[in-house]
Amino acid sequence: MAVVNELSNNWENDPAIGAVVVESSDINHRIKELGAEISADYVDRIPLLVGVLKGAAMFMSDLAREITRPVEFDYMSVSSYGSATRTSGVVRILKDLDGDLSDRDVIIVEDIVDSGLTLTYLRKYLAARNPRSLEVCTLLLKEGLQKTDLRLRYVGFRIPPDFVVGYGLDVNERYRNLESVHQYVGLRPK
Ligand code: IMP
Repeated sequence: MAVVNELSNNWENDPAIGAVVVESSDINHRIKELGAEISADYVDRIPLLVGVLKGAAMFMSDLAREITRPVEFDYMSVSSYGSATRTSGVVRILKDLDGDLSDRDVIIVEDIVDSGLTLTYLRKYLAARNPRSLEVCTLLLKEGLQKTDLRLRYVGFRIPPDFVVGYGLDVNERYRNLESVHQYVGLRPK
């Protein structure tokens, strides 16, 4: 049976969805704080938010509404080579940015930083396009898994290194629309 069929369509009693790691009310509260911080840091600049699809789409739309200054949006879509639950650091660009980055104040908006390999690749890739500044805002940071200092300017929550789903995060494209972030305790896709 394909793994995707083993994921439930109904998660109210779905044993694959484990304990809540971050409650939706805490997410909302923290996003207000991050929005206020970004608003204060970019008083005289218009940040370009670069969302990393698909996981960061929800976070970016909520975050942008908490920023009380003009912002612009762009998106990238990347796919990391590796297993479904581990990245290898080799990244394929599926959708590149629409706009130019030169002299822009760019904030990469990520859903989660795990090993940090995807972000390290993206940062180098975007830095080569001469933005004026390049910062990172990630909703979640898994503790203790990064080998180098990633210089993350804005971090929503530090979480234990378990696999999680919800609020944009998926397993085989499912569970993104859970309101809270949960542990995923189901069968891991190979
Ligand atoms: P990294 O390169 O190891 O930091 O992995 C980053 C990417 O892997 C994220 O942008 C997610 O797409 C995915 N990822 C890492 N951990 C999780 C998780 O716990 N749940 C869902 N996706 C994850």
